[in-house]
Amino acid sequence: MSLQTDDLLSVQDVHVGFGEFTALDGAHLHIARGGITGMVGPNGAGKSTLFNVLGGQQAHQGGRVLFDGQDITHWSVHRRAQAGLTRTFQISREMGALTVLENLLLAAPQQPGEKLWHALLNTAAARQHEAQAMAQAQALLERVGLWRLAHERADSLSGGQKKLLELCRALMLKPRLVLLDEPAAGVNPVLVSEIADFIRSLQAEGMSFAIVEHNMDMIAALCDPVYVLAQGKVLTQGSFAQVSAHAQVVEAYLGGVA
Ligand SMILES: Nc1ncnc2c1ncn2[C@@H]1O[C@H](COP(=O)(O)OP(=O)(O)OP(=O)(O)O)[C@@H](O)[C@H]1O
Ligand SMILES: [Mg+2]
Repeated sequence: MSLQTDDLLSVQDVHVGFGEFTALDGAHLHIARGGITGMVGPNGAGKSTLFNVLGGQQAHQGGRVLFDGQDITHWSVHRRAQAGLTRTFQISREMGALTVLENLLLAAPQQPGEKLWHALLNTAAARQHEAQAMAQAQALLERVGLWRLAHERADSLSGGQKKLLELCRALMLKPRLVLLDEPAAGVNPVLVSEIADFIRSLQAEGMSFAIVEHNMDMIAALCDPVYVLAQGKVLTQGSFAQVSAHAQVVEAYLGGVA
């Protein structure tokens, strides 16, 4: 399988097993530069496992992951994030006892080299870095309507607000590609459409996304193409209309429920 020029990320023949169980069984897919790619499939299809592989949280037994033309298969989470690839988690990972603002400041990229010494010595460079992170965090929180809650504990937020905080934490790294694992799960419909608008506005600024969702309204509104995963494999891909009309997709979902 060749890497097309408009692919920002490409997954080739990735396998993940947990003991006897195969979670990913030779997955192939492409995430287009500047696009919003959808990933759907029944519970247990391997969607989060795939994101774990892409984010560097999960080792895999075979295959390759290419990001912007580079083979990142053996890169650490940190190196992937530095290169512009980051993700959110299905279960939000905010630090509940810290404030909303502190959560964002902790997610700011580290200064290269000697960060600790700069901080200890309170150098001008460290102060400038902190001021930049603060301005970025404030701008993000204002943009998503959470600035008024900046000094509240993160565990006081609603489920939807936690999803927004999780997304903002990923955005502190100024990524090029963000993988969103169920950004609409447990979120009220008004906030779902606000999150969708926010994703669309980030896309208009040049950011690329892949979204795992069970909320088909969100997938239909944002994503093209849509990949359908079932039992660790890509069953089909195409526009939302195309994949929804696919007989095996209907069967895979019904099979997941039965
Ligand atoms: N660390 C692990 N150890 C053992 N099995 C695992 C592990 N992680 C995932 N699995 C199994 O791998 C399969 C795929 O899990 P995964 O979380 O990727 O599914 P998913 O498509 O994200 O499902 P959902 O829509 O419910 O989030 C499931 O059967 C799950 O139980
Ligand atoms: Mg999942």
